[in-house]
Amino acid sequence: MGRLKFQTPTGMHDIVGEEEKYFQKIFDICQKIANFYRFERIETPILEQTALFTKGVGNATDIVQKQMFTFNSNGDSLTLRPEGTAPVMRAYLQLGMKSLPQPVKLWYFGPFFRKERPQFGRFRQFWQFGFEIIGNKSPVLDSLILQIFYNLLKELNLKDLIVEINSIGCSNCRPHFKRALLSYFKARQKSLCQDCKKRLKENPLRILDCKQEKCRQIISQAPQILDYLCEECHNHLKEVLEFCDEISIPYSLNPYLVRGLDYYTKTTFEIFETKSENKNLALVGGGRYDNLAKILGGVSTPAVGGAGGVERIVILMKKQKEKLNLFYQPKVFLAQLGKLAKRKSLILLEEFRKSKILVGELISSESLKSQLDRANKMGARYVLILGQKEALRDEIIIKDMKTGTQKTIKLDKVVKEIKKRLKNYASES
Ligand code: HAM
Repeated sequence: MGRLKFQTPTGMHDIVGEEEKYFQKIFDICQKIANFYRFERIETPILEQTALFTKGVGNATDIVQKQMFTFNSNGDSLTLRPEGTAPVMRAYLQLGMKSLPQPVKLWYFGPFFRKERPQFGRFRQFWQFGFEIIGNKSPVLDSLILQIFYNLLKELNLKDLIVEINSIGCSNCRPHFKRALLSYFKARQKSLCQDCKKRLKENPLRILDCKQEKCRQIISQAPQILDYLCEECHNHLKEVLEFCDEISIPYSLNPYLVRGLDYYTKTTFEIFETKSENKNLALVGGGRYDNLAKILGGVSTPAVGGAGGVERIVILMKKQKEKLNLFYQPKVFLAQLGKLAKRKSLILLEEFRKSKILVGELISSESLKSQLDRANKMGARYVLILGQKEALRDEIIIKDMKTGTQKTIKLDKVVKEIKKRLKNYASES
C-alpha cells in the first residue's frame, strides 16, 4: 500500500490505544497528588502573545531562537506555547491572584510545542504536567516541589531515578560568575561550536547547557557557580539540600545545570533515569524563578515549580516493563439477538451503567457466536443472553461461565440479581 496522503506533521503523534492508557495513568497520579497538596488545576490557552516567551523564557535561549511555532494573526504575533511557566505567571498576574492567600499552587497537564529536530524522546508536540507554587521564597517549597516530582515518578513504579540539583544564583551574584565565565570562554573561543560563539556574546551561561562534545570538554574545566554564590543564595541551596536529605531524595549536585530557560534564580533541578543511554533526556525539569513576575511587568513575586515530560515518562515505563491494567475488564457481558432485543438491550445497558456495573457488549453484532467469543476473550463470568424469544417475554438468560449453569429470569430483576452475584463473586475471589 502506498503512503497515505495525510499524515501527522513531523514530530507529532496521535495518542490512542496503549499509549493513551499510559497517559491516563500519569494524569490520574498527578491529579491525586495535586488534590492532596491542594494544587488547583489551570489550563492556559495553547496560543499566547509571542512577547510573553521572548521576554519570559529569554531571547537568547534555544527555545526562543529556534523552536517556536510563531505566526501573525491580524497584526498580532502569536506563538504555540513552548512551555507552561510563563503562561501560568501571566495568568497569576492578569487574574490578580496576588490577592488570594499566598502561596498560590497551580498545576496543569497539556500539550506544548517546540520546533526541534525530531529524534528519540524529543517531539514537536509533547505533553507536560507542571506544578507551580507562586508567592513565597522559602527553600522548603523548592524541596516540596522536588518531593512531589520524585514521588510522582515513584508512584508510577519507576526505578533508578536521580535528581540533579544546582543553584544559578541571583541578580546579585550571577553577574560576577558570568564575568568569570566570559573570560574563561573568551580565552578558548576558537574551540567552541558556532552556537556557543554566539552564546558568548548573548549569554555565556547558555554555553554550559551545550551538548556538543568539543564544548563539553571545555565546559568541564569552567569556573563553577557554587564558588560565586552570595550568602543568601548559598544558604538557600544549603537548606534545600538539607530538606532533601531529610526526605531521602537521592540527588547529586551538578554545578553545570543551568537549564534551557532564562527565568531561573537560585535552585535548578532535573530528574533522570540513572541507566538512561541518553544523558540529555530529562524526565522532569524545574527550579525557582523569583524574577519572572517582574520581567513580565508585574510586582516582584517569588515562585518555584517544575514540569515533567509525559512521552519520556511513558518511554521509560515501557522500558522498565511497567504493566498497565489496560482496561478494567467487565465481569458481565450482554449478548442479544434481533431488533427487539437490541432495543431492550440499549435500555438495559443504561440501567447497568446507572447501577455502576461494568457490562461488555457487541450490540451491532447479529451473531451469537461472535458475541460469546468476545465475552470469552474479556473473561466475563456472567453472560446475559437476550434472544428473540426472551425479548418477547421480557425475560433474560443468565449464564455462569464458570459453573456452566444457566437460569432464565424476568428482565426487570436482572440488575439486582447480577449485583447480588457480583457481591458473592467478589467475596469468593
Ligand atoms: P523543560 O526542561 O524545558 O522545562 O521541560 C520540562 C520537561 O518536558 C523536560 O524535562 C522533558 O521531559 C519534557 N520535554 C521538553 N521538551 C520536550 C520535547 N521536545 N519532547 C519531549 N519532551 C520534552 C520547562 O518547560 C519549564 N517550564 C519547567 C518549569 C516549571 N520550571 C519551573 N516550573
